[in-house]
Amino acid sequence: MNAVLKKIAAHSGISSFAIRAERPSDVAARETLLDASFGDGRHARTCQRLRDGRKPAEDLALAAVSNGKLMGTVRLWHVSAGGVAALALGPLAVAASHRKLGVGAALMERALELAQTHDHGAVILLGDAPYYARFGFSAFKTGSLLLPGPFERDRLLAVELREAALEGASGLIVPTGARVSKMRRAHARGIARSMPCAA
Ligand SMILES: CC(C)(COP(=O)(O)OP(=O)(O)OC[C@H]1O[C@@H](n2cnc3c(N)ncnc32)[C@H](O)[C@@H]1OP(=O)(O)O)[C@@H](O)C(=O)NCCC(=O)NCCS
Repeated sequence: MNAVLKKIAAHSGISSFAIRAERPSDVAARETLLDASFGDGRHARTCQRLRDGRKPAEDLALAAVSNGKLMGTVRLWHVSAGGVAALALGPLAVAASHRKLGVGAALMERALELAQTHDHGAVILLGDAPYYARFGFSAFKTGSLLLPGPFERDRLLAVELREAALEGASGLIVPTGARVSKMRRAHARGIARSMPCAA
């Protein structure tokens, strides 16, 4: 995938950032960013149940990089939303030093564009409606859906990339993505243990 370059206002102190496919070499920096953004309890969050032991959807693990450093991340995951194929988005995070510069919006826009290109019908997430509404997300189509754990109903949001893709979607959202091999899971645990802030 070609990197998408975005210019940032001169006052930000960085001239540009790129949105590109995540690389294996990004994983340690990504995990450090997620620890800093969501804290120690992040692995216990309900949405993590949709990601445990799974690979992200093809081409849908993205990194925002500036001056060779990772400063933003978003990934999307295959799920079944009560029997309807969809993607679950998350976690989305931008380094505190680079927030309010449009990096989050650039990650979201690129992720949704790629999801549509890959013919996915809908994207679901658990997040703040005041932020995600700008990308078309709302709770209109999620009223009959459930997550595998506690969640706040008004934070379960979705956007349809194909008309009526979530029509009739009702029941539990469960992961359906390809499983990570045992060896890769052990490697990931090793990275987590070697990081100072690992959750
Ligand atoms: C949410 C997050 C990804 C936004 O990244 P970002 O690069 O700062 O986003 P953008 O620059 O595209 O947009 C910034 C705008 O969104 C607003 N915003 C950020 N988080 C928001 C939220 N939770 N609710 C409402 N608005 C929010 C900012 O106030 C800012 O508004 P402004 O443009 O009027 O100044 C980033 O703040 C972050 O990583 N937060 C910690 C992790 C997190 O909460 N992730 C999302 C889970 S719901």
